[in-house]
Amino acid sequence: MRDSSFSADQAGLAQGLAALLDRPKGDVAAALAALPESLPAAGQGEIQTLTQLAPLVLGGARHLGAETAFAHMDPPTPWIAWVAALWNASVNQNLLHPDVAPVARDLEAQVVAWLAPWFGMDGGHLTPGSTIANFTALWAARELAAVDTVIASDTVHLSAAKAAHLLGLKYISVPTDQRGGVDAAELPGDLSRTALVLTAGTTSAGVIDDLGLIGRAAWTHVDAAWAGPLRLSPRYAGLLDGIEKADSVAVSPHKWFFQPKESGLILFRDSAAAHQAVSFNGAYLAVPNVGVLGSHGAAAVPLLATLLAWGHDGVAKRLDQTMALADDLAARLAADPRVELWRQPETAVILWRPMNGQSVDALRQQFPAGMSSATTVDGHLWVRHVAANPNADIEVIWTAIDAALG
Ligand SMILES: Cc1ncc(COP(=O)(O)O)c(C=O)c1O
Repeated sequence: MRDSSFSADQAGLAQGLAALLDRPKGDVAAALAALPESLPAAGQGEIQTLTQLAPLVLGGARHLGAETAFAHMDPPTPWIAWVAALWNASVNQNLLHPDVAPVARDLEAQVVAWLAPWFGMDGGHLTPGSTIANFTALWAARELAAVDTVIASDTVHLSAAKAAHLLGLKYISVPTDQRGGVDAAELPGDLSRTALVLTAGTTSAGVIDDLGLIGRAAWTHVDAAWAGPLRLSPRYAGLLDGIEKADSVAVSPHKWFFQPKESGLILFRDSAAAHQAVSFNGAYLAVPNVGVLGSHGAAAVPLLATLLAWGHDGVAKRLDQTMALADDLAARLAADPRVELWRQPETAVILWRPMNGQSVDALRQQFPAGMSSATTVDGHLWVRHVAANPNADIEVIWTAIDAALG
């Protein structure tokens, strides 16, 4: 007899969708405690499982599209991507095997072909995020440019040092300049065996390193995990001028392309050579295994669906909207004597601290959850906001900040 668990159950799917729209709230601690302590011997069935998990998975989650969501580089995701992700889960394609992913591989190639040219790259592939994208870039650099050292500013994401460590490469950290970008004067003169990692949108402060430094080293990788999508905004694309000269570029669609995790992109100027350098063959494989992952799913499908639904204009509109929200909040902070604004935000990351004797921690405790994060820059702790949510409401956020400052 056929096992009906593997066919669509209309009532079950309808219940799942209703919960998704409703995001049922409940006592999360009690719901967590109600989960069996060990693997249950007998299953309770799908419908009961949906009822039990909805308040945890949906109700218990931070709402990244809420009017006060303004804390991290984690955006809300568009509904078209929810549908595409559900489709993905149901067909479970494995891009390792053309045989079981006959079309999904083409869809990934298509989305890469749409995006790579914006960065001057000729191809690449999806990764689960920019940790793996950065690793893949430095792996290719080691194979193709014989680098033995990685160099980056002290504000680079920790994944650069992690990759160097895993690849057996020496790692050098250089200080930043006044603006918070890599200090060019601190770079060694001879970078002929070095991969230089520049960041387009640092994690803490959203600063773009001087992309004029591209080409100084044997290999230059630009970690554009955060700010890369700005390349698609006619208004802000110029901030990333020069990126097209890089050897490789990492972008995280699960940040400012509003994609569900895990969605990253590694792009190469010469992708044929780079892919060959990071490929392995296996007796059971019909095509070489490119990059770090073995089996992997079709993360490109939600991205392709979003880009098709919104078009270039729709992406740019949402990026511009979030940049405007950041500028609005920064302007209010800059004009308020109770606070110090770190700098004018370059890429929608805002840092500020109270100057009225309050501590950053005490202040943040008064904010709605998910409205702020904190980071240390220039030896000070700062309140940090990231404008990744086009539906954030600066009036509401400002009211919370104003009230907390007293
Ligand atoms: C600039 C930068 N690079 C790399 C990463 C790592 O990306 P992921 O978390 O997708 O692995 C991050 C994450 O925040 C980042 O901000």
